[in-house]
Amino acid sequence: MKPSKVNLIYYSPTGTSKKVLEGVAKGLGINGVEHIDLTPAEAAGKSHIVPAGELAIFAVPVYSGRVPLVAAQRLKTVKGNGTPAVLIAVYGNRAIEDALIELKDITTEQGFKAIAGASFIGEHSFSNDATPIAVGRPDKEDLEKAKAFGEKVKAKVEEMEKLVEVKIPGNKPYRERNPVPRAPETTAETCTLCGACTEVCPTNAVTMTDKVETVKESCSACSACVKACPTGARIWTNEGVKKAATWLVANYSSRREPEFFL
Ligand SMILES: Cc1cc2nc3c(=O)[nH]c(=O)nc-3n(C[C@H](O)[C@H](O)[C@H](O)COP(=O)(O)O)c2cc1C
Repeated sequence: MKPSKVNLIYYSPTGTSKKVLEGVAKGLGINGVEHIDLTPAEAAGKSHIVPAGELAIFAVPVYSGRVPLVAAQRLKTVKGNGTPAVLIAVYGNRAIEDALIELKDITTEQGFKAIAGASFIGEHSFSNDATPIAVGRPDKEDLEKAKAFGEKVKAKVEEMEKLVEVKIPGNKPYRERNPVPRAPETTAETCTLCGACTEVCPTNAVTMTDKVETVKESCSACSACVKACPTGARIWTNEGVKKAATWLVANYSSRREPEFFL
């Protein structure tokens, strides 16, 4: 028996995890796709159930080798019932470390059964013109690989009743999360008060009156606001982020490729 529906479940502040997921969905070619977007701040208050006869495909970015804390919290709003799940971690060309195994543990706890996994590369959230890291990824080649992965998953789920749990790389205990660098700043001279930064913030950390203000403690460093700003007024001035970006360029500029775990 094939799955009756595919649920794309994602947390994707700068959109790369979502793009990969849509590429995978193309390869699946199953009619009936539902999006469960855990990124907007409102997602925190909703809950979802994905029944056993359906398929769940989860995608999250990697933050310091782990599932982002906000994503880990929001994933707890999605319940399965022995539902088969495909797990995807999207990282900024450095490493996934324990993110995928953590995603497996979280979703297993929520009632899903991991039947396949993959890692893909996305433009680094801290990438900019001065420190470009994995710019433009996932690119055409990545999206072809995402589709090919979807086709492999499609073949695997032809017989849902025969699915076995997949082995996922990673260590336990997971590596420690790095402290969150807080937060991007707004250059008043170039800010047009368009509100894009407030709209995309997954944690409602950015507010706007006659100027843009940020509740630093609520910022998750996802950089959605920086990437969404049409005038480049929203920027990282934090020395830690600048140093990290320079270190990433020096050490992690050679192209990494997606990996499948089937
Ligand atoms: C706080 C933070 C920590 C990150 N840590 C890692 C990491 O450990 N390894 C890595 O390769 N990329 C890391 N990244 C980059 C993201 O995983 C990458 O840019 C991803 O494509 C973002 O996904 P999104 O577009 O769905 O938000 C980090 C990004 C942020 C904001």
